[in-house]
Amino acid sequence: MKINLSPNQNPTAPADREAKIAEGGFGKYYTDNMLIAEWDEQSGWGDATIKAYGPLSLDPATSVLHYGQEIFEGLKAYSQPDGGVSLFRPDANAKRFAKSANRLALPELPVEDFINTVTELVKHEINWVPKNFGESLYIRPFMIATEVGLGVRPSNHATYLVITTPASAYFNPNKAVTVWISTEYVRAAPGGTGAAKAGGNYAASLLAQKEAATQGCDQVVWLDALERKWVEEMGGMNLYFIKGSGKDATVFTPKLTGTLLAGVTRDSILTVARDLGYKVEEGMISIDQWRDGIASGEITEIFACGTAAVVSPVGAAKSAQGTWTTGNGEPGPITMEIRNHLLGIQHGTIADKHGWNVKVK
Ligand code: COI
Repeated sequence: MKINLSPNQNPTAPADREAKIAEGGFGKYYTDNMLIAEWDEQSGWGDATIKAYGPLSLDPATSVLHYGQEIFEGLKAYSQPDGGVSLFRPDANAKRFAKSANRLALPELPVEDFINTVTELVKHEINWVPKNFGESLYIRPFMIATEVGLGVRPSNHATYLVITTPASAYFNPNKAVTVWISTEYVRAAPGGTGAAKAGGNYAASLLAQKEAATQGCDQVVWLDALERKWVEEMGGMNLYFIKGSGKDATVFTPKLTGTLLAGVTRDSILTVARDLGYKVEEGMISIDQWRDGIASGEITEIFACGTAAVVSPVGAAKSAQGTWTTGNGEPGPITMEIRNHLLGIQHGTIADKHGWNVKVK
């Protein structure tokens, strides 16, 4: 895919840009440029263009606006000790984007085009990459169905875009989130779109998220659709349970059954935990095993993970059956060790043994 340059002629002044980066948060300010490419059933992918960030003009009958045929990704660029910038595992996001496209009947973007377009845009926006530990430039590639028409069918036209936003903590990593275990709503069912990163999955999660808030909780925990007892995910993030303590601890996560999203951070933590000397296990955990594991002291820590928040400790869990709290409700030592190790690799302060960082500059 050729990338044409037509960059913003009026970029943010350096002082303003620095002030925006310093404000932190997540998704508050967008950088000066975005990337856009169009696909057509007849002619395939056209060239990409890097141009000024700005609104899209869409016909009101554009199919994504009606039937939600949309997918997205999230990945990050981190500043490095030598002044450079690296992307973290962009190949993993590229492959998942292609899988999501397939599930949503959108055209697959070749992995190399995903990586090249993301790399070129980040090069353009390099001055927007925050320098502080734990901060990054969050990259949001997405694809929308842009055929105009109300017929329900796979779109014969699609638009791929990449936008970027400076990001600090998504959740406060030093404060455990409280979760509401929903037995009323489900996120994903076998044969559905749970394994795809599709906007519709997130839209369908919001009412349960609202219910969690009504219950005084920060986030919702999803159970499986069939038995409503097997723990799957938290909000838009994967979950980890620490069983035992010290170096004998087991780092456990629900296995990928086809209804869970295969998180890149989830996958990275399986490796990091092993590197740190822990036993690692993927399996099934029921809501009863969660409650009993807390009561017996077997489960010592719980955390959620995702690209945006990296690692976020989970404290109290509330359900129709009652409330149970992990440890003293504070972030646990293994959670913080894994978090700091992963962030260390991403920021280049800990050796990147697995070749995950891809240099942009
Ligand atoms: C992530 O954890 O990166 C997510 O998927 C949440 C994101 C949609 C903001």
